[in-house]
Amino acid sequence: MRYPSLLMVCGVLTFTLVGCTTNDQVEPKETTTQSPTTDEPNKSNDTTSDREEKNGPESPTEETTEDTPVVDEEPTEPTEPIEPTPPVQPIEKDGVANLELNEMILVNKQIALPVNYQPSDLVEANIDFVDSTVGERRMLRKEAARAIEDLMNDAKAAGIDLKGTSAFRSYAYQVNLFNAYVERDGKEQAMKYSAPPGHSEHQTGLAIDVSSASVNYQLTQGLGETVEGKWLADHAHQYGFIIRYQKAFEEVTGYMYEPWHLRYIGVEHAKRVHALNQPYEQYLEEIMK
Ligand code: DAL
Ligand code: ZN
Repeated sequence: MRYPSLLMVCGVLTFTLVGCTTNDQVEPKETTTQSPTTDEPNKSNDTTSDREEKNGPESPTEETTEDTPVVDEEPTEPTEPIEPTPPVQPIEKDGVANLELNEMILVNKQIALPVNYQPSDLVEANIDFVDSTVGERRMLRKEAARAIEDLMNDAKAAGIDLKGTSAFRSYAYQVNLFNAYVERDGKEQAMKYSAPPGHSEHQTGLAIDVSSASVNYQLTQGLGETVEGKWLADHAHQYGFIIRYQKAFEEVTGYMYEPWHLRYIGVEHAKRVHALNQPYEQYLEEIMK
């Protein structure tokens, strides 16, 4: 047991060391019929659409001197627990996402980004994008951009042909996109595949949609059945991404299956989410409590 042994070490060191501290420290509307949707609300003919589019115990400071008495006594257990406690981070406050979670931020139908939020470290991802994807929609937060570059390079080396279709989307862009979908399909239907403005992970700069030539770079659920889609499902977590909207998670996320939507949460957590096969909401709740 780690806890009693840590107490013992601290107890002994109390008599020999000055300190023993612990650090508490109109995207494609994916439908089962797979009708193409567009990421470009103002271009109704665009077929490439986006359907959416730590410190372990601190080392004791060794300030012992030759005069330090060595007391040969049984250490007494401190009454206060000294086990480090992970910081408790609220996931949201009053329906607004906690930006301090950084790449682990949770945005969903119930939790919005602060109004007009835009990440400060957006950079263009140096990957292949479909031609219709221009400007800020090729951008991601720096860490996510580097990660998708690694993923794409390794995919290419493995013979997997993927391109980005939509990365960062501003609040304003999402307004146009979402409204176009609502106009096309009605709000109830649009809400199944498109996030209302302020509620899209694309606005975090941590999400990117990718597709492959085998499905004409459409954002279609059929991607999940392709070699490329399967490669993504099997390898994305190694680069820090999760397939955020899975078929089995629809009840929790409120969105239909999107095998193309990759969300960066960092390698450590992505590996755990992948292994646990949980919705990100459930994973975060469990590790934050
Ligand atoms: N398609 C995802 C849910 C979005 O619009 O952010
Ligand atoms: Zn997406």
